Amino acid sequence: MELVLDRLTKQYKNKIAVDRLSLELKPGVYGLLGANGAGKTTLMRMICGVLRPTSGEIKYNEIDVSQEEYRDILGYLPQDFGFYPEFTAIEFMCYMGSLKGLPKQRAKEKAVELLEMVSLTEVAKKKIKTFSGGMKQRLGIAQALINNPKILVLDEPTAGLDPKERIRFRNIISKLGTNRIVLLSTHIVSDIENIATTILVMKNGQLIHNGSLDKIITAIQDKVWECVVSEEKADEFAKIYPIINVRQEQEQIFLRLVSESKPCENAINGKATLEDLYLYYFSEVTTYE
Ligand SMILES: Nc1ncnc2c1ncn2[C@@H]1O[C@H](COP(=O)(O)OP(=O)(O)OP(=O)(O)O)[C@@H](O)[C@H]1O
Ligand SMILES: [Mg+2]
Repeated sequence: MELVLDRLTKQYKNKIAVDRLSLELKPGVYGLLGANGAGKTTLMRMICGVLRPTSGEIKYNEIDVSQEEYRDILGYLPQDFGFYPEFTAIEFMCYMGSLKGLPKQRAKEKAVELLEMVSLTEVAKKKIKTFSGGMKQRLGIAQALINNPKILVLDEPTAGLDPKERIRFRNIISKLGTNRIVLLSTHIVSDIENIATTILVMKNGQLIHNGSLDKIITAIQDKVWECVVSEEKADEFAKIYPIINVRQEQEQIFLRLVSESKPCENAINGKATLEDLYLYYFSEVTTYE
């Protein structure tokens, strides 16, 4: 069970959104992290066969994605998922099941089971237009699972979820990743930190990191610094370094920042986190470009 991307490329007019990206995915949860415009949605749409690559290949167990067979093993929650506001949750689920070619009775059973899984049983007969953002998001995840897909692609599934729903979501995803490939994108570092077995970091259409949390954090371990500076110095540093944290105590300012080299005499290396890594690569401060 392996999904293989080989030098996958998508070019829109003069913009290369995904750039010769190669990747092998096995069952597990993959967290795709990247700033706005990094190419996450473009990559996911190609994997789901809704966008044709400019060049390169996508194969699952040697099956090319353009084949009918592949659709049957795929579940997808698009970033801009449109619901049918007048449908009830259960009607919507059954409808999605019929689109996936499930027999009516089977679709109904599966719909009931999945609504239970995402804790929407009580509102199954309510119209979607009455749902909150988080409820819609959970319904979006449920519909992506209607055909029990071997490959589940979720584009920003945690956008708009409150902390409680976020935890519920993480638990659902962790379970799903045991016997299928789950690829999810997000800007929310803590979601990825908590559920992804493999973290993929994307920048300018390319994968710049691929590995376990520990492994990719090692890459920036010597770039996270903690130091004590004057207010003046702190202002100066803010212009040149991505600042992770500022804490003021009396006249002193404690800074945590990312820098290629030691920023000042009293600086010491702090323990790096995924958030540091994100800031290092995607901070507005352009010293690393
Ligand atoms: N249909 C399109 N035509 C032209 N350019 C596009 C199109 N879709 C995306 N792009 C460009 O391709 C790049 C990648 O976009 P994409 O939507 O894949 O990024 P993303 O990582 O999903 O961003 P976000 O985090 O904002 O969802 C961006 O520069 C975007 O402007
Ligand atoms: Mg996107």
